[in-house]
Amino acid sequence: MATEEFKDRLLLLGLARVSEAAALASADWIGRGDEKAADQAAVNAMREQLNLLEIQGRVVIGEGERDEAPMLYIGEEVGIGTGPEIDIALDPLEGTTLTAKDMPNALTVIAMGPRGSLLHAPDVYMEKLAIGPGFMPNVVTLDMAYGERVKRMARAKACSTEDITVCILERDRHQEMIDEVRATGAAIRLITDGDVAGVMHCAEPELTGIDMYMGLGGAPEGVLAAAALKCMGGQFWGRLTFRNDDERGRAEKAGIKDLDRIYTRDELVQGDVIFAATGVTDGSLLPGIKREVGHLTAETVLMRSKTGSVRRMVYRNPVQ
Ligand code: FBP
Repeated sequence: MATEEFKDRLLLLGLARVSEAAALASADWIGRGDEKAADQAAVNAMREQLNLLEIQGRVVIGEGERDEAPMLYIGEEVGIGTGPEIDIALDPLEGTTLTAKDMPNALTVIAMGPRGSLLHAPDVYMEKLAIGPGFMPNVVTLDMAYGERVKRMARAKACSTEDITVCILERDRHQEMIDEVRATGAAIRLITDGDVAGVMHCAEPELTGIDMYMGLGGAPEGVLAAAALKCMGGQFWGRLTFRNDDERGRAEKAGIKDLDRIYTRDELVQGDVIFAATGVTDGSLLPGIKREVGHLTAETVLMRSKTGSVRRMVYRNPVQ
C-alpha cells in the first residue's frame, strides 16, 4: 500500500508544539544543578506531544539504544499510528549541563523527514566541519589541516584570517586544533557544550559572529546539525570516529559499512526535512524561556528544507 506523502507544511506547527513543550518542561530545571531531571522533563514532554501527532513516526536519532533509554529510544514508534511514515531525529535537551548551570545556548531540537531520509548515526563521536551559505562547494574540507581551513575561508570571504571566528567545543582533545587555528590569527569562540547550536551559528554569521565550526562531538548531534543547515543553508561534513571495537560494533549494527566515510550534509540528511529548535537558556540564536507574571514565553525557530523557509514563533503560555 502506498504510504501518505510527507506533509511537511502541515506538520510544521505540530513540530513546533513538540519542541516548545520540551523546552517549557525543562525550564523548571534551569540553574538547579540537576542535568538528569532537566533531561527527563524534556523527554517526557516531547514524547507526550509526539504521540498526539497524526504520523507513523519512528525515532532514528534519540535518547539511546532501547536497553539504555526507556523513552524516545532508537526505533521507538511514536505518533497516533496513522498518516505518513516519518523518521525522527531528536534531542529533547541539547545542553543538559548548560541548562543545569544556566549557561547560554541550551536548546530542544527535533527534525523529521520521510522514512529513510536520516542517517542512523550510532552514538559515537563525529568529526565535524561546517560553514554557512554562499560559498563554493568544498571551499574547505575535513581532509585539510585546521589552519588551512581558516586560510581558505578567509580567502573565500576576501578578508584576513584575523577576521575569521571559529567555534570549537572546549575539550582537551581539541588542543592541537585550537593551537593551529590560533596560529593563523583567527579568533575562537570556545563553547562548553551544545555543538548543534555551534554548527547552526555558522548559518547566520552576521547575527552570531561565527564563520566556521570544527571539532569532535556526538554523531547523533551531527545529523541534527546537518538537518538544520539543510534548511538554513550552509555546508557540513562529518566523519564517524571510533575509540574501540564496541563503538565500531555500534556503527555496524546501525548498518554503516564504510567506517571511514566522509558524509556531506545531504548524505546525512537525504530528502526534505523539517526542523524545530526552541531556546531553553538565552543564546545567540534564540532567547531562552522567559518567566513573567502570569505566563511563560518560548521562542522556536521552525524551518523547511524544501523551501529554505525560516520562521520564528513566539509562544506565550499562561501559568495557572
Ligand atoms: P548533552 O545534550 O548530553 O548535554 O550533550 C551536549 C554535547 O555538548 C553535544 O552538543 C556534543 O555533541 C557532545 O555533548 C559532546 O560530547 P562530550 O561532552 O563527550 O565531548
